[in-house]
Amino acid sequence: MTVRVRDTQTGDEAAWRRLWAGYCEFYRSIVPAEVTDATWRRILDPSSPIFGRVAERDGLVVGFANCVMHEGTWARHPICYLEDLFVEKEARGSGVGRLLLQDLVDLGKARGWEYLYWHTQAGNATARRLYDEFAAVDDFVKYRVRLR
Ligand SMILES: CC(C)(COP(=O)(O)OP(=O)(O)OC[C@H]1O[C@@H](n2cnc3c(N)ncnc32)[C@H](O)[C@@H]1OP(=O)(O)O)[C@@H](O)C(=O)NCCC(=O)NCCS
Repeated sequence: MTVRVRDTQTGDEAAWRRLWAGYCEFYRSIVPAEVTDATWRRILDPSSPIFGRVAERDGLVVGFANCVMHEGTWARHPICYLEDLFVEKEARGSGVGRLLLQDLVDLGKARGWEYLYWHTQAGNATARRLYDEFAAVDDFVKYRVRLR
């Protein structure tokens, strides 16, 4: 079994959409179709700060990482926000999630990012066991004001 992590490409649309549907279901969220469409378009658009990486196992896409690059006031170098990380159920527990994270760490080092960060639900013990391998959790909490 070989797993390869690479940029998301046009030909990944069906696989990406299947994973995205699984990810939305995991969060019990309904994302409007036009938002999904716009996200997919921006992942492919090199001028967008959104980009994607996928994990391909034996030629099949089984996981993704969707990210947003942004600037920061406390840093001179670009910052990467990992917004979505998902591995399909059948492929879990075999190291794909770890590879997707390690890929971003490697990419960030090669590209000179200041840091990579992400959020998760406090109770997502499975994901947090993996995340604890990469970084210590800090004590910031998140506030969000909905504007639309
Ligand atoms: C979180 C997620 C991406 C991990 O992907 P994965 O490919 O299963 O992870 P890996 O196989 O690389 O596992 C790495 C570590 O995670 C932990 N882990 C993975 N699956 C686990 C499970 N079922 N139970 C407990 N720990 C688990 C273990 O510490 C594991 O290390 P080990 O294999 O040395 O024991 C995947 O479970 C997933 O997509 N979950 C649903 C969506 C989600 O929670 N996304 C993250 C939201 S922020």
